[in-house]
Amino acid sequence: MIDLQDVAAANARPPEFDAAFRDKFAELVAWRRDVRRFRRDPVAPELIHQLLDLAQLAPSVGNSQPWRFVSVDSAAMREKVRSNFLRCNEVAGNVYDGERAALYARLKLEGIDVAPRQFALFCDRATAQGQGVGRQTMPEALDYSVVAMIETFWLAARSHGLGVGWVSILDPEQITRDLDVPAEWKFIAYLCVGWPVEEHVDPELVRVAWQDRTRAGRDVLSR
Ligand SMILES: Cc1cc2nc3c(=O)[nH]c(=O)nc-3n(C[C@H](O)[C@H](O)[C@H](O)COP(=O)(O)O)c2cc1C
Repeated sequence: MIDLQDVAAANARPPEFDAAFRDKFAELVAWRRDVRRFRRDPVAPELIHQLLDLAQLAPSVGNSQPWRFVSVDSAAMREKVRSNFLRCNEVAGNVYDGERAALYARLKLEGIDVAPRQFALFCDRATAQGQGVGRQTMPEALDYSVVAMIETFWLAARSHGLGVGWVSILDPEQITRDLDVPAEWKFIAYLCVGWPVEEHVDPELVRVAWQDRTRAGRDVLSR
């Protein structure tokens, strides 16, 4: 782990990422999963702090670091988030018919009732940090910065064997009201974090025959 306090020393000794590291990194990417089934064991606060420190190194437009974490800890607040999910998921399920509807109803799409740590992630759309660089024409670049940070957090967690599950089936206005955050904060994601009960190299939605991986995003247009 690099010493973030000693940036000058770290600059003087840039690391070499060799082939063995690249292989391991590819494994890390391949074995990162969206996790919905968690053990109830607690996660050491020190580990969470370490992940949060590392996540601060993620890219952000203008170096704005607009991500804001809210740790959702109380049973009452988690119950509100879970009710929010259940309401939204029922509506979402109504879009499908027949076998698809039956399969949707069986999908496990969150771990809110069990995950020992849960974070709502917001983007501070009003942050002055970054002095507006890069976001005059695309204010949404701030939101993308939060997503880039989430991926860093997700991979870092996985490198410790810790699971992260992203829940987006939520009413963003409701969760923003429930969590009573500043009006300028835009809801981006709800993350469940904890030790997974199982590990897989293939996504759950592939395993349950909901959606395979395809090459849709692999082909590159040339102009
Ligand atoms: C923006 C975003 C929102 C997502 N929302 C949900 C969700 O609400 N519930 C869920 O179970 N998974 C959610 N996922 C996880 C995806 O289903 C998952 O990443 C995808 O099926 C591939 O599986 P993998 O992450 O294990 O590779 C979300 C992922 C992203 C990037």
